[in-house]
Amino acid sequence: MNGAPRHKVRLAIFASGTGTNAQKIIDYFRTHPTIQVGLIVCNKAGAGVLSIASREGIPHILIDKEKFFRGNAYVDELKDSGIDFIVLAGFLWKVPAALVSMWHKRIINIHPALLPKFGGKGLYGHHVHEAVINSGDTESGITIHYVDEIYDHGAPIFQEKVIIEKGDTPETLAKKIQILEHLHFPRIIEKVIEKKQNN
Ligand code: GRF
Repeated sequence: MNGAPRHKVRLAIFASGTGTNAQKIIDYFRTHPTIQVGLIVCNKAGAGVLSIASREGIPHILIDKEKFFRGNAYVDELKDSGIDFIVLAGFLWKVPAALVSMWHKRIINIHPALLPKFGGKGLYGHHVHEAVINSGDTESGITIHYVDEIYDHGAPIFQEKVIIEKGDTPETLAKKIQILEHLHFPRIIEKVIEKKQNN
């Protein structure tokens, strides 16, 4: 990815769920001059993100657990698709070492809280917001970070906060956080990629 790219930078979005962030990322890069979403990778048959992939005409891979964790972690398939950069948008499995080293500093994740608080295995989706509300904290937010081999651990890239008001519930907090995610994630992805291209 050094110097002027000969082709558009191809993103793979890894997602396990509804895919609202995936949709925002697809929308953001639809007409982008240098970056395109080239692949959706999903571990859950029937996930909403797979319908998004079909509707958008983006190829997808439904991954098999055994092959992901004990095989080659789909390195060959990702290379065959020309993937330069990986974005985790609600992907619930840990990323295997083979992918982390092959796409070193080219995998980023979004987490719906202010890491290092409220991260790690089991802290995903509503579990995160419940833990935050139960903690009595007065703020939460989003963290976009590089991915390493430990859940929710890699170097942070961007955080944005929201105030937790009296009467907020895990559900109302989830809505506030989702607004921030949709607003910031695509442009931070763009910034990270452009910074790499200019280095
Ligand atoms: C987001 O809250 C993201 O922070 C987390 O998983 C959720 C995915 O939501 N990692 P969606 O499927 O994009 O709606």
